Amino acid sequence: MIVKSVRPFFLAVLCSLLVSCADGDDRRKEEADTSVRVVTDTDTAPDSETGLIVGFSQIGAESAWRVRNSSSMQEAAAKMGVQLLYANAEQKQENQIKAIRSFIVYQVDVIIFVPIVQYGWENVLNEAVAAGIPVIVADRKLKLSDPSLVAGFVGPDHLVEGENAARFLLRKYDGVPGPLLIFEIRGTDSSSASEDRAIGFRKIINADRRFKFVYSESGDFLRSKGKELVENFIREKGGFVFDDRPIDIIFSHNDGMTLGALEVLEEYGVNAGTDVTIVTFDAEQAAVDALKDGKVNCVVECNPDLGETVLTVAQKLSRGERIEYYTTVEERVFTEFENYDSLAPRGY
Ligand code: AHR
Repeated sequence: MIVKSVRPFFLAVLCSLLVSCADGDDRRKEEADTSVRVVTDTDTAPDSETGLIVGFSQIGAESAWRVRNSSSMQEAAAKMGVQLLYANAEQKQENQIKAIRSFIVYQVDVIIFVPIVQYGWENVLNEAVAAGIPVIVADRKLKLSDPSLVAGFVGPDHLVEGENAARFLLRKYDGVPGPLLIFEIRGTDSSSASEDRAIGFRKIINADRRFKFVYSESGDFLRSKGKELVENFIREKGGFVFDDRPIDIIFSHNDGMTLGALEVLEEYGVNAGTDVTIVTFDAEQAAVDALKDGKVNCVVECNPDLGETVLTVAQKLSRGERIEYYTTVEERVFTEFENYDSLAPRGY
């Protein structure tokens, strides 16, 4: 099967259409990868079925999870003989919209994108529909007035992740009197990852009146911001306390922010894992190591390895096969109640 090669003029167009981030905010500093890349490895893809060209708009590189998620797409593309046009949006919805428009101009076979936020995609998705290019949403969900604007979703169930975090706390605090004070560090506002985790968690925890939220702020899934929020709080309150009561639980929406928070707690002599219970999401290596060290109590896995699954769905679509609207991936929960000495390296 002949695999189409990416035309050089297109790359020039694509690069000029994708805006590079010129501001100096924290997110920008934590971005490691700002390029538009074409990934293809037809020599090592004997089973290349379709010569598929896929445009992939990624959010950026805000966390170790996200970096692994991008590699998973790139590795799968190389293995499956798919040409992946990879665009890094550097945390800006407008950059994602530009990238999707560029993919439409090029008439890729399928567009895959990770929506940074849930709203504001209708116009560009209508353009994709008009061009006859199917769109698959990966990792984060979006809210659409017309769900048929996208062909399907492939990714984790962030709502279930939130529920699982709450279930851990119910088990840990079984029989313990309240109040139990929760300090929440949310992810990016309006992202489904953050909102669904919050909803799933509250669905379970709010039914138990011992648990009380005393703080909730967005740390944008950034380590630096997780650190900053906890530091500011401790400075303002004169300790990790609320109304002179120690905070019982940190409920942090990703490992990056958790690791930032751990740094500050240590600095101020608060023993993470014992003085304060730490619940976090992603299961990157550093967080699982912290769990093993007793500094974290529960790590809810968010599976970044979506590459093969989502590209398989893309191949089916391009062959005109029916696909499920929702394809979710398996995830587990790591808790202080188990031993993980023989756990395989996490890979991110
Ligand atoms: O959408 C998944 C979330 O986004 C991960 O929890 C987080 O680390 C990432 O940046």
